[in-house]
Amino acid sequence: MQASQAAAAPVQTPTSTHSSKETYRHTKRTAKDYIFGKLIGDGCYSTVFLAKDIHTGKEYAIKVCEKSHIVRNQKVQYIKREKDALNMLFNVPHGFVKLYCTFQDEERLYFVLSYAKNGELLHYINKVGSFELNVAKFYVAELLLALEKMHAKGIIHRDLKPENILLDENMHLQIADFGTVKILEPEKIKSPTPTVPEDQDSAVRSRKISFVGTAQYVSPDLLQNRVDTRASDLWALGCIIYQMISGLPPFRASNDFLTFQKIQKMDYEFPEGFPAEAKDLVEKLLVLDHTKRLGSSDTGDTYESIRRHPFFEGIDWENIWEQTPPKIS
Ligand code: ADE
Repeated sequence: MQASQAAAAPVQTPTSTHSSKETYRHTKRTAKDYIFGKLIGDGCYSTVFLAKDIHTGKEYAIKVCEKSHIVRNQKVQYIKREKDALNMLFNVPHGFVKLYCTFQDEERLYFVLSYAKNGELLHYINKVGSFELNVAKFYVAELLLALEKMHAKGIIHRDLKPENILLDENMHLQIADFGTVKILEPEKIKSPTPTVPEDQDSAVRSRKISFVGTAQYVSPDLLQNRVDTRASDLWALGCIIYQMISGLPPFRASNDFLTFQKIQKMDYEFPEGFPAEAKDLVEKLLVLDHTKRLGSSDTGDTYESIRRHPFFEGIDWENIWEQTPPKIS
């Protein structure tokens, strides 16, 4: 990998047509085709750099994983699934970071992703303290539309949180970080019933509660029953709505163990002034029994029962991605 260096002159004006994106996907690349810039993300198993394609001048977010680290920590399946999920979502026009190509060298794996210029949703929640209702409504609606697309393809994210929700150059939302996804078998996609995982990969398989995801957003079903359903993402959606409006996630404690206890006891409260429609929606999503969570019985490709909730009154579901997002202030 090259360190940061002076930008080479672009040789071609980048375009964003569907076909140019497709062509890019099938062009063989190596690390030498990019100038690696600043660090824009850091996880347990990867580091994300802003990088510029030396041929087109276009910016990408390149996720770099050390192969030895992946193998040592038995994360090979996770990397494969992340790539599979991103490939399955490539042609969904909105709501997700795109994987343009992957390559490897002796030591590392590289994922060339679209660069979401405006960074993490978390940054904006923390910056303004809490979102105004119209802002929260808009971003929750975009998040729900993205979840619908993802779940319709049988992809459960399992680590939805404001750090993994990015904003593109037009301030539209993109879900990122598919490192912990579960991909359902096709016959299980429409099933509203729980999918008990049969392999040993998943969330809370070990007795000492090792889990994928992040403590504050993990669902009680993942903690207790060890089942993977779309409804665990709906639980996280409830936590994120709460956080957008109040500034903090609902279940907070000084360590993960205490956070899990609060989740299992539903030990949270709404701050004064929390809007009634938002409160009602959160209460219908933060339900211990995942089969009773709003949306969990919907069998179509859209979450009609959630869309119809009064919180979303006024949302134009058909045109939201073309709208100018309300200003976050
Ligand atoms: N951080 C992690 N992935 C990113 C992406 N695709 N764009 C911007 N920042 C990121």
